Amino acid sequence: MKNQINVTHTTGNKLTCTAVFLLLSITLYGLPTTAQHTMPDRHEILESDLIINTFERNTFSLDGRWEIIIDPYQHGLYDYQSRRRSDGFFLNQRNTAPGDAFEYDFDLSDQLHVPGDWNTQMTELHWYEGSIWYKKDFRWEPDSSKRVFLYFGAVNYDAQVWVNGKEAGRHTGGFTPFNFEVTDLLADGDNFVVVLADNQRRPEGVPSLMKDWFNYGGITRSVKLIETEQSFIQDYYVQLARGRTNQIEGWVRINGQPHEQQVTLRIPEAGVEIQAQTDSDGLAYISVEAEPELWHPDNPRRYEVELITETDRISEMIGFRTIETSGKEILLNGKPIFLRGVNIHEEAPYRLGRANTVDDARILLDWSEEMGCNFVRLSHYPHNEHIIREADRRGILVWAELPVYWQLQWTNEETLANARNQLSEIIHRDKNRAAVMIWSMSNENQATEGRVQFIESLVELTRSLDPVRLVTSALMARSHPELPDAWLIDDPMGEMMDVISINQYLGWYGGGPRPLDHITWVNSYDKPLIISEFGGGSLQGWYAGKEQRWSEEYIAYHYRNTLEMFDQMEHLSGTIPWILMDFRSPRRTLPRIKDGFNRKGLVSDQGVKKEVFYIMQEYYRRKAVKE
Ligand code: GCU
Repeated sequence: MKNQINVTHTTGNKLTCTAVFLLLSITLYGLPTTAQHTMPDRHEILESDLIINTFERNTFSLDGRWEIIIDPYQHGLYDYQSRRRSDGFFLNQRNTAPGDAFEYDFDLSDQLHVPGDWNTQMTELHWYEGSIWYKKDFRWEPDSSKRVFLYFGAVNYDAQVWVNGKEAGRHTGGFTPFNFEVTDLLADGDNFVVVLADNQRRPEGVPSLMKDWFNYGGITRSVKLIETEQSFIQDYYVQLARGRTNQIEGWVRINGQPHEQQVTLRIPEAGVEIQAQTDSDGLAYISVEAEPELWHPDNPRRYEVELITETDRISEMIGFRTIETSGKEILLNGKPIFLRGVNIHEEAPYRLGRANTVDDARILLDWSEEMGCNFVRLSHYPHNEHIIREADRRGILVWAELPVYWQLQWTNEETLANARNQLSEIIHRDKNRAAVMIWSMSNENQATEGRVQFIESLVELTRSLDPVRLVTSALMARSHPELPDAWLIDDPMGEMMDVISINQYLGWYGGGPRPLDHITWVNSYDKPLIISEFGGGSLQGWYAGKEQRWSEEYIAYHYRNTLEMFDQMEHLSGTIPWILMDFRSPRRTLPRIKDGFNRKGLVSDQGVKKEVFYIMQEYYRRKAVKE
């Protein structure tokens, strides 16, 4: 039985390319220096083995029911003396003869659905932080002319993967995709894959021990086998050059021999058809004049972009727009834009748990658009690819963020390498999405030793992988040392950012709701300023008067005061209330009000809009009129 391929096979027919060779001036391995400054660093490109755009490839889904074994002591991996076992659970053995002594049997064990966190699937796993073994049987008919990769959308937090008892690879980081080549591990007929997922929080982790969200564990996003040609298009980057609306630049990366091939880039509706030659690393830079209709929230125009090599072909819809800053303005396609945003955690509406479906994405973005948003901050970690692609289709701008959250081990080299790896993975996955306009390095990091150097390393990597998008971090302001009723924005991290973003909770933390329109903000940087968090908590439907904390009236009063303060601020480029929907957090234990939820949502976790939703909706209606 041929492997069920759920995407049409690549045609692979060689296109007779009538390329108008606009690239004659381009050396095969580089570009005129004028363009070079906007082109990513080839070393960083070649560092990644991530396969992008899995939706348009020949894939075989492994989603569904997986057998599981809960293993808090990891005794399936270590023996009684804590030595790593050679006969661990990854062998998927079972007792067949009467004398067999295996102390586990996947096929007689419980099951969990993949994708999905384990906390919301089994009551006994609600608070579980530890290891769980997953096993999935599948049949495969190897094709000697093809290669096969095992791809995970995400596993929180650490994943060790075996195929047919042989190690495939290991990945750390709970919110980014990864893949391992398994061509030589697959058998003809029956196969099995085993994953050891471990969601324990770690001091050296990214994020570390303390966070204000629920530590949902498990294989939280889809798993699939990707069948490719021996030599295939693994990765590519096709965007407008920074600040240019008439120059498309990028690169194409081939994985597999022969590395040196002709690559054709076709964007039929933009009149683009060019060729380039990949080098001995399989990499070719591209640059071509073109004037595509620009992607914009009011008109999210996208083009079918095709890449064809001698052995492979892939396509996807890509939008073209420029995003840059000028003084205190953010410019989209050269024009100032005010970002009418909302923060979103990856919490599934209604059912709760890790959001990971297209429907979850649509509901969250529907609410955002209903509020009048043209922008979402996908807080505090990379979200699933569905919401990025849905935002791209709808014309909603996106702030994507790395979980460098609160306090990390800034001087731990492993922690930095982990953060850099997660950053590289998310940039590789989403770098062709016009909607993604900002990469955020971190959130609310106290000024402790090593923090700036750590973040500086992430900024440098970001700019080397993606020269066109903006970089920020969610920082904190401080009470002005001289001026009364003033707040000073002077975190040294602002030096390396394109956009200054500040989380502020005046009127919520450190004193209740009160008029704030006398407050002044002093931005030390001649850069755009976004208020990346503000707001407060309320129990949806609880009316108990304006003096009663957590009531709807209390928070409505607070929001009105906050928005009046924003109206006084000149040069504000965006506002992002915290947060769209109530979400689970173990730090929120006030009975009958919070019950394990952070209640700063503008919408309850059951989809009921609070009064503050409509206050924001009115505010954004006014802001939209001014544009
Ligand atoms: C912080 C933090 C959020 C947190 C929020 C809150 O600013 O960035 O992750 O949930 O405030 O206190 O609710």
